[in-house]
Amino acid sequence: MKAQLTSILRLTLLVGSFLLMYPLNAFALMDAMSTFDVKGTIGQEQLTVFWFTVGVSAFLLLTVGGVFFYALFRFRAKPGQDFVVPEQTHGSAKIEIALIIASCLLLLVIAVPNAKALFVMDKPPEGKKVMKVVAIGHQWWWEFQYPDLGITTANELHIPVDTAIDIDIKSVDVIHSFWVPRLAGKMDALPGQINRMWLDANEPGKYYGQCTEFCGDSHAQMRFLVFAHKQAEFDKWSRAEKADAIKPETVSQVNGQKVFMQGCNSCHAIKGTNAMGMVGPNLTHFGSRTSLGAVMYKNDTEHLAKWIKYPQQMKPGNLMKLEQANMLLSDKDVTDLVSYLQNLK
Ligand code: CUA
Repeated sequence: MKAQLTSILRLTLLVGSFLLMYPLNAFALMDAMSTFDVKGTIGQEQLTVFWFTVGVSAFLLLTVGGVFFYALFRFRAKPGQDFVVPEQTHGSAKIEIALIIASCLLLLVIAVPNAKALFVMDKPPEGKKVMKVVAIGHQWWWEFQYPDLGITTANELHIPVDTAIDIDIKSVDVIHSFWVPRLAGKMDALPGQINRMWLDANEPGKYYGQCTEFCGDSHAQMRFLVFAHKQAEFDKWSRAEKADAIKPETVSQVNGQKVFMQGCNSCHAIKGTNAMGMVGPNLTHFGSRTSLGAVMYKNDTEHLAKWIKYPQQMKPGNLMKLEQANMLLSDKDVTDLVSYLQNLK
């Protein structure tokens, strides 16, 4: 009896926490990653297909359900009535053919907006401005290259509004998937293959992105941000981003750069210096980024210092294995390195 009660209690707790978790999660992500609050051409097209399909399915449900309930009540046995077997229609060729034709027609109706969406997704409309971007998945961060602008950055993609961003999607290691829910649907990033998609943003703003293919320990922490700017603001950003890194100014920053060139430079690049590593994110204008570790933390002094000191604690499994490699820096070097990196605006 007691064991039964315990298992009932456990089951109640489990079901209860699931029920509670669902709305909490849904609300938390509602504005940031909602596919119902879209601000891009492709997102809008896909939402239209979704609602249309829901509409057709609802029509089908109501029709079939309506007929079912009508028959249930209309032909139920009345009190005192004898049991009569109604006329049997099972195997009627006429009814079966009619049902097959009706199903095919409904599928055809759903196929029309789907086919239209495929053409919209295939390439940007004639006459729309186009900008090329290469998005490269790494365990667990995103590299963004702008081949026509000579810019390489990470985890924060800046784009001009009302411009088609023509994206080549690649991976250097395992399969990832590129997704900005409020702008467009997903596209896989496969090693050894280039996948293409385009997207645009109709409104300036900050849009959340997320890797949506399980890719290892920190898959859930493989996020990114898309900042959509008015053209003039984007031009300002791209000019600054294209420039070489700012030279260190203070004593602390100068030492920070020295520390950087004794190891960090073998994985990270900083334009205008000898640091040309390709393994980790390009840090040329790191100080102007809002986030750290693929949008895991705010890019501030406290988090950056912790990241440099204990990268494995901050993001398990990432390639900065300083703890294991016995490469822990002194507190002073960490402070100087932070000051150098923060100055790289
Ligand atoms: Cu990359 Cu999941």
